[in-house]
Amino acid sequence: MSLDNASGTASGSILSHNCVISVVGLGYVGLPLAVALARRFDVVGFDISEERVSELKRGYDRTFEIDTPALRASSMSFTTDISETSDADIHIVTVPTPVDTEDKPDLNPLKSACRAVGPVLKKGAIVVVESTVYPGVTEDICGPLLAEVSGLECGVDFFLGYSPERINPGDKVHTVDKIIKVVAGQTDAVTDALAEMYGAATTGGTFRARNIKTAEAAKVIENAQRDINIAFVNEATMIFQKIGISAYDVLETAGTKWNFLNFTPGLVGGHCIGIDPFYLAHRAAELGHDPDLILTGRRINESMGSFIANSVGEQLQPHSRVLVLGLTFKENVPDLRNTKITDIISGFKSLGHEVDVHDPMADPAEASQFFDIDLKENLNNLHGYDAVLGAVAHAVYKDLSPAAVEGLMTENGLLADVKGIWRDQVFSNGIRRWQL
Ligand SMILES: NC(=O)c1ccc[n+]([C@@H]2O[C@H](COP(=O)([O-])OP(=O)(O)OC[C@H]3O[C@@H](n4cnc5c(N)ncnc54)[C@H](O)[C@@H]3O)[C@@H](O)[C@H]2O)c1
Repeated sequence: MSLDNASGTASGSILSHNCVISVVGLGYVGLPLAVALARRFDVVGFDISEERVSELKRGYDRTFEIDTPALRASSMSFTTDISETSDADIHIVTVPTPVDTEDKPDLNPLKSACRAVGPVLKKGAIVVVESTVYPGVTEDICGPLLAEVSGLECGVDFFLGYSPERINPGDKVHTVDKIIKVVAGQTDAVTDALAEMYGAATTGGTFRARNIKTAEAAKVIENAQRDINIAFVNEATMIFQKIGISAYDVLETAGTKWNFLNFTPGLVGGHCIGIDPFYLAHRAAELGHDPDLILTGRRINESMGSFIANSVGEQLQPHSRVLVLGLTFKENVPDLRNTKITDIISGFKSLGHEVDVHDPMADPAEASQFFDIDLKENLNNLHGYDAVLGAVAHAVYKDLSPAAVEGLMTENGLLADVKGIWRDQVFSNGIRRWQL
């Protein structure tokens, strides 16, 4: 299959031809997508990380999104050699789009992926960006760069598309093969081809966005909206702490109204919700608009770690021993990127407390390398803490009995429950409790 003339008229159904797809960047997003597409198409997965590719070839996915039997059963191939993607009719780019130290978009991985793909682009190929970006990146940055390095004309010799990724790591219900896939192409024929390709990989169907910028904008506001809603709940939580009532109790009560939105207080870490609003804010500022609400939401959510550390810290004697349960950015995933639990830990340390950290989902080597934290291995060996702080609602912590939690603490220790993990549990009278 290819788009073979300037108007971008598809030369046929991609399903009736041997469509070859390359997926560039095999992380949380790229790998599950590639595996899903490989059920219908020839798929080659490319990544710059030798370590990642060799693990995947051995059937091991360190993100735990695809289990070993499914990985071994997949027909897709893995490579660090971009020339092995040169047969691809469609290149799907799923590389990271982080922010730099000033919270500005860091498009270097995306640009470098375009520089890699450009030289192997064949005529008529489509390059689809799936990475989260601000409106305009695909057409104004990726298109010209691909044209420059390939020597081909964008919109004539090759075509652009955008299809945002909506998966939620650790969520085994809304998986890539079940959710609605938004697609947008440079021409109607490209959009048709993308709808057909993604439609073959998901039972959720596809939605054709009006154009590429609309699809880019839709993705970025999906996450900015969540960030702002969480910021509102976090601000309300700070007020309720002063009043002396629990935000969880208030939210449970307000949630009985049919149109009350279901958001819970907490830290906003990870690769998406805490990052994507900065992409929209950056574009707004470039266009002369002050993105006041977006940045206020970011500021409130960024302050949550020190708010929690100070509120809990106030209840502790100087030089207390604190055990923090959970380090990953969210529950039931191993992902440590941009985790905000570190804000709580450094807050406790700056108050003079001694902090140990446990997290069975996190990779101890990564915790040590990135945060200088030596994770405690076995909960059964841990005792005598003045405070235990439940930071991440991993299933393993939800399953702990009250006796097991109490076994970690001194007799009148403080149990701080950031995520409402033990809200409905009954503990001994001596245990003091703190919750949001
Ligand atoms: N993780 C999520 O939940 C999620 C959800 C929706 C959208 N997104 C977006 O999807 C994109 C990818 O996120 P992710 O979580 O999969 O990232 P990730 O860090 O898990 O994976 C990215 C992969 O790309 C590789 N890579 C980096 N630069 C490369 C290059 N130049 N060429 C080839 N490979 C390269 C890395 O080695 C890594 O394996 C980001 O834009 C992110 O915002 C992520």
